[in-house]
Amino acid sequence: MGVKIAPSMLSSDFSNLSEAKFMLDCGADWLHMDIMDGHFVPNLTIGAPVIESLRKHTKAYLDCHLMVTNPIDYVEPMGKAGASGFTFHVEVSKENWQELIVRIKSKGMRPGVVLKPGTPIEEVYPLIDSENPVEMVLVMTVEPVFGGQKFIPEMMDKVRALRKKCRSLDIEVDGGLGPSTIDMAASAGANCIVAGSSVFGAPEPAALISLMRKSVSENHQN
Ligand code: DX5
Ligand code: ZN
Repeated sequence: MGVKIAPSMLSSDFSNLSEAKFMLDCGADWLHMDIMDGHFVPNLTIGAPVIESLRKHTKAYLDCHLMVTNPIDYVEPMGKAGASGFTFHVEVSKENWQELIVRIKSKGMRPGVVLKPGTPIEEVYPLIDSENPVEMVLVMTVEPVFGGQKFIPEMMDKVRALRKKCRSLDIEVDGGLGPSTIDMAASAGANCIVAGSSVFGAPEPAALISLMRKSVSENHQN
């Protein structure tokens, strides 16, 4: 289990995707890609064609967060486009998460599950305890939809419970992460950190990425 700092491209300038390269040069481990369908969330953003374009320019891990009502329909196109991680919402996958995991893996992607702030952590336990489990759990620390919202500290109870249950699972947090909230997330046990507005708005993104990495590494040594 390593530290992964994942700038969220939702906060980038969409007319300038070379900002992805800039973030990698600043020390980012992953690029977080928010895929939306205008239905699961009232917003429309990136889709497979953008992943495909980015993939032509980078070998970086593309950490795709699918805010869509029918994730199964996206497995094939996202796999073809070159996504690395495919993280689907548990709220819309109650009936078919087993099939989703199998299909995601068959397309060479890493399966992850994500839950909204109102969803209890216990809902993802079957997906972790399964014989064919997800490889990451993303705990939303804001309501999924837009960047720049305020971190919900109560979500740290979910991260703590999950870390207690699974010592080596990748646990990601997404929403409102930055200099004032990173220590809360790191000490609760998160090792993958998504950050959009804080990193893209920082005077020195490289310094912020390294500060967040330090916070996670220090907490995981304890
Ligand atoms: C919100 C997205 C996030 C968003 C985070 O729906 O899932 O990935 O980009 O942005 P910040 O870090 O600004 O809260
Ligand atoms: Zn996201």
